[in-house]
Amino acid sequence: MALMLKNARVIDPQVGLDEVRDILVRDGRIVEVGHNLTMEKGVERDLSGKVLVPGLVDIHVHLREPGGEQKEDIASGTRAAAHGGFTAVCAMPNTAPVIDNAMGVEYVKAVAAAKGKARVYVAGACSQGLKGETLSEMGDMVAHGASAFTDDGKGIQDAGMMRRVMDYASQFNRVVMVHAQDNGLVGDGQVNEGVASTRLGMLGWPAEGEEIEIARDIALCRLTGCPLHIQHVTTARGLDLVRAAKAEGLPVTCEVTPHHMFLTEDAITDEYQTCFKVNPPLRTAEDAAALVAGVADGTVDCIVTDHAPHTDWEKDREFELAPFGMTGLETSLGLVLTHLVNEGVIDFNRMVELMAVNPRQLMRDEPVKIEAGCVADFTVIDPEASWTVEAHDFYSRANNSGFIGARLKGRATDTYVGGYATMEDGVVVE
Ligand code: DOR
Ligand code: ZN
Repeated sequence: MALMLKNARVIDPQVGLDEVRDILVRDGRIVEVGHNLTMEKGVERDLSGKVLVPGLVDIHVHLREPGGEQKEDIASGTRAAAHGGFTAVCAMPNTAPVIDNAMGVEYVKAVAAAKGKARVYVAGACSQGLKGETLSEMGDMVAHGASAFTDDGKGIQDAGMMRRVMDYASQFNRVVMVHAQDNGLVGDGQVNEGVASTRLGMLGWPAEGEEIEIARDIALCRLTGCPLHIQHVTTARGLDLVRAAKAEGLPVTCEVTPHHMFLTEDAITDEYQTCFKVNPPLRTAEDAAALVAGVADGTVDCIVTDHAPHTDWEKDREFELAPFGMTGLETSLGLVLTHLVNEGVIDFNRMVELMAVNPRQLMRDEPVKIEAGCVADFTVIDPEASWTVEAHDFYSRANNSGFIGARLKGRATDTYVGGYATMEDGVVVE
């Protein structure tokens, strides 16, 4: 089938493009990028006033299937992804059962192919059952399509085990992604240790609980040579460790989330709002500012959501009993446009690097460039759309966003995966 996308401002730093262009697509790939293009028959769309970029990719998403379908499943999670402007996501393996073998990888891929509205990269666990004790079947998982490895949700406590994970993974050309958390320091910590934990009278989750594991894993990256990706960095010093590792030439990358950039520990008041309970916790204003600076200066490689859906009844409990996590797929782009692009902190080119180019590279997938021959995965953005985040607009099964009520400017209106619309004019295509 042919598809003609006309008159969008096409932005792609990979090919140095920022101009109004037409794009002709056939059989899932770009045929031509140019002016006044025509086609004999097919679907034509006028995207005047819109911005078109390579399809956005979120490499840190909890789709909860198998085992947590009451929170989200692959069908609802990938619809939330399409609605948020994403053409691909990476599914975390902390499901029930854990994705730690080839059959689990095949299951997620099969359901995504049958019911998904976005491409789904599968991250396999590093250790069996996320227990941090025994290596998972990494080779088998790679053979069956795993794109990366992580024990996300948990830190791997034993340094020797982490070394084995990295030694083993380094032969497969896959990134090891780490959720940095030292349990001895974090314990039952609920909120950032310091002002917030004192004010709220809750156990603290100290910055050092994250930073010590980042430092350790960078040392193990130096030892093993295995590509290392630090997930959801939240502290200024943690980011400095990544900055220094990069300066040294180590294969270290990192990601930050919108909630750690645009919310702080101050958001949690004596109402003890569980929507702000996330792991790692919301940190200080100085930390949040350091993350934004890292996004601007190139230290941060990707913006991800850590989309962590939970049911209302799980979150409607005492703060200590509620699970960690907030959703993010349907607010991420709007937040990044509102707080970073519109504010002049970064430009559209850098946004595309952070949300499309670098994530795809970390998943070891082929690049999507806006040029002939490339896969036709696109995100179309209305930069002028003003909107308010409302739970009833979510395609996600979950409501646990920390941004309900936020006024944002800019959002995705259309997404295309392999030349087919997954969202058109803000509505997911069924
Ligand atoms: O807040 C979080 N929620 N952080 C994690 O690392 C895991 C996630 C989840 O699975 O709910
Ligand atoms: Zn995590």
